[in-house]
Amino acid sequence: MFENELKEEILSVIFQCESEKECENLKDFFCDAMNQYKSKLNQYKSEVNQHNAELNQHADVDNANCCSSASNSFDKDEKIESIIETIREELGDNYLALAPKENITIPTWSFNYESYNDTNTVHVDNFIYRDEDVDELCEAGKLNRNICADCHSLNVQPASLHQLRWLFEVAIPSLGLHNFTLLDVGSRLGSVLYSAYLYSSAKKIIGVEINEYFHNLQLKVVKQEKLDDRISLYLNDITSDAGLNLLSTVSPQIIIFNNVFQFFIGEKDEKSGNTSKSKLRKIWKVISNSIRKSGTIIVSIPSLEEQFAEAESPIDLTQWVRESYVGKNPRELKRFKKDYGLQLEDMNDITSVFIYQVI
Ligand SMILES: C[S@@+](CC[C@H](N)C(=O)[O-])C[C@H]1O[C@@H](n2cnc3c(N)ncnc32)[C@H](O)[C@@H]1O
Repeated sequence: MFENELKEEILSVIFQCESEKECENLKDFFCDAMNQYKSKLNQYKSEVNQHNAELNQHADVDNANCCSSASNSFDKDEKIESIIETIREELGDNYLALAPKENITIPTWSFNYESYNDTNTVHVDNFIYRDEDVDELCEAGKLNRNICADCHSLNVQPASLHQLRWLFEVAIPSLGLHNFTLLDVGSRLGSVLYSAYLYSSAKKIIGVEINEYFHNLQLKVVKQEKLDDRISLYLNDITSDAGLNLLSTVSPQIIIFNNVFQFFIGEKDEKSGNTSKSKLRKIWKVISNSIRKSGTIIVSIPSLEEQFAEAESPIDLTQWVRESYVGKNPRELKRFKKDYGLQLEDMNDITSVFIYQVI
């Protein structure tokens, strides 16, 4: 039907309303119907993209192989185990994977961490230590058993391996992206970088880390595991001139922010007197002003909505980014859970990864 005829039809329906209330109800109905239609359309687009990505993968097989020294899933899993082993060796008995004198503050102003405090919380990196490893460390007295039993084993939220595999093997291919440049803001042990190297077709992988201890650790792992053909590392504060300059010169297609700021900004800056929230507001203002290229993918944990709301940021997110639900339709999630042998609770990790596209 032509658009004008359609409008006539809609108007004739509206004019049948007998009260303002009926008209309001009809408006709500239209809004709901439009939202349902948009979500179906997104789902359909994601399926088409997935299909195209699979076709591309077949057609592009040589290209994809050249981007990964480990060519099949078994080799990749072996390689990631070797990387994890190298990191553990580098860390030695630093089981908490903290840098010397590192100042991590639990963001108790965030409703997610209200009940956490220094006595009931331990930092465990779940990329290098899975649940069974944590149990073993507790058994061996290397981690505080009371805290383990309390199960408040908060980490400073590095991404887990299955979150990363979902991101690189399901979500990003669904976006139809290949041979892209990826930048991980706050790369810490380098988990995102190594996973991108093995499980994605990224041609350039960049890690920016503010902490020298972790930057040096990444340098060692990258050298030892021979990953420097695609991974580059920078020791920078992303909000500094050098960090922002890097963002604009590299112009990455994908930028990852996984719990970068909340735990690392301290409670109060003694010099400026700034509180956490006002620091976060400033950080996101600078970052959102710097990432303007339309189509850039931003991956965020937790959601940008949550981070902006907690920082009480006045920035209107809807003017900057649009959320994408790739890889999250129930059928894809069910298949991922089955293929990767995951438990239901693991799936919460997946649904807590948020993907956005700059408008
Ligand atoms: C939770 S870790 C994320 C680790 C990794 N990206 C992952 O997903 O596994 C956050 C890291 O961000 C770093 N960081 C905090 N503020 C930063 C800043 N302004 N610029 C660069 N890195 C920062 C911290 O030192 C920490 O290592």
